[in-house]
Amino acid sequence: MERTFIIVKPDGVARGLVGAVLERFERRGFRLLKLEVRTIDRGLAAEHYSHLKGRPFFEGLLDAITEGPSVLAVLEREDAIKVARNIVGATNPSDALPGTVRGDLGGCLPRNVVHASDSRESYEREVGLFFPGEAWLLEVQEAKQE
Ligand code: PPS
Repeated sequence: MERTFIIVKPDGVARGLVGAVLERFERRGFRLLKLEVRTIDRGLAAEHYSHLKGRPFFEGLLDAITEGPSVLAVLEREDAIKVARNIVGATNPSDALPGTVRGDLGGCLPRNVVHASDSRESYEREVGLFFPGEAWLLEVQEAKQE
């Protein structure tokens, strides 16, 4: 079993797309391990996107991810990272295929509805930033065994 981390970004939340996005993950067999509504502050956003510092769109990306509440989720299934990236679609909604979140629900960069970890390393880094500590995960795993 593999885990991934997604953010329904403020543009997705403002457009009332949280249910539509999460439904796509649940229908593909993902199990929700953690779900939280949070307005991401600029410092955390800058850490999350730190590998993009210096890119011309960096500040705009921070503006977009901090402009309102986001929905953060940790989800689990086999090949979670690859399957989640396929559900989400190409980074730029203009390039995203129909049937993907970004292809169907649109948006315009940097407001592309959703973020999903692009590798195991990214997942570990991101989950450590947004949900530090192992306690919540151990609780979920214990509950699963009961
Ligand atoms: S890149 O350019 O290869 O690093 O792009 P990618 O890895 O797909 O995207 C990393 C995040 O940067 C955002 N991004 C942009 N925002 C605004 N304008 C432009 N041109 C742009 N290009 C990439 C992109 O949305 C990714 O953030 P998330 O939150 O994962 O969508």
